[in-house]
Amino acid sequence: MTAQLNPRGDVAVLVPAAGAGVRLGPGRPKALRLLAGEPLLVHAVRRLAAAASVHTIVVAAPIAEVAAVRDLLAPIAPVTVVPGGAERQESVAAALAAVPVGPDIVLVHDAARALTPPALVESVAAAVRSGHDAVIPVLPVVDTIKEVDADELVLGTVDRRALRAVQTPQGFRRSVLAAAHAAAGDALTDDAGLVEKQGVPVFCVPGSDHALKITRPFDLALAEHLLATDLRTRTLDS
Ligand code: CTP
Ligand code: MG
Repeated sequence: MTAQLNPRGDVAVLVPAAGAGVRLGPGRPKALRLLAGEPLLVHAVRRLAAAASVHTIVVAAPIAEVAAVRDLLAPIAPVTVVPGGAERQESVAAALAAVPVGPDIVLVHDAARALTPPALVESVAAAVRSGHDAVIPVLPVVDTIKEVDADELVLGTVDRRALRAVQTPQGFRRSVLAAAHAAAGDALTDDAGLVEKQGVPVFCVPGSDHALKITRPFDLALAEHLLATDLRTRTLDS
């Protein structure tokens, strides 16, 4: 069934989905790899469309797959599909350029975080709405972290109490993200990094184990397991 987006919602979600998925091994672009029989991008978009505040979804697809991605997502939700770029940041910029007038909050969400609960989308959006211009979902770091030199010799141990692992969706006041992208230089792996460079404070909210990024084959196996066994992952209202 095609989901409806909220015409009175204040959130646009940009979905960079144009990556190759090199670390997942040979095969189709990562967003089109199958998880429980459906492409990762379908899982991701279905969960975004289930978030109550979402007004617009713009997907940046691999250039050769734009038409295929449009066909794939048409039965899932009303989504705009644009060609992505060679770097993630270019894909995000292409999607940002396609957001219509209206939504005041823009979220950027990796297609690779295919099982992200709608509730996390809403909690990031709510933090932006409450006055934070830039918001990231984070988890505490569980491993001990060492800094090493080029010869793999340990230089020191980093105090992990001050570290956070960052997920998506990352949320922004629209004008703040637009200004950061307009000023962007070198490619970074996250959008909050661009905003930080502009001197904008970035606020952290609790992330979710279910928002794991599917990067390596192990992650795909874990996601398969979660979908098969974890009710919270299977339902869209979590
Ligand atoms: N992405 C994108 N455009 C790019 C590169 C990445 O839209 N040129 C997207 C990916 O599709 C993914 C997200 O950014 O949803 C996070 O990137 P990552 O997990 O690194 O995915 P890939 O780049 O596809 O994977 P790899 O780095 O292993 O090739
Ligand atoms: Mg990548």
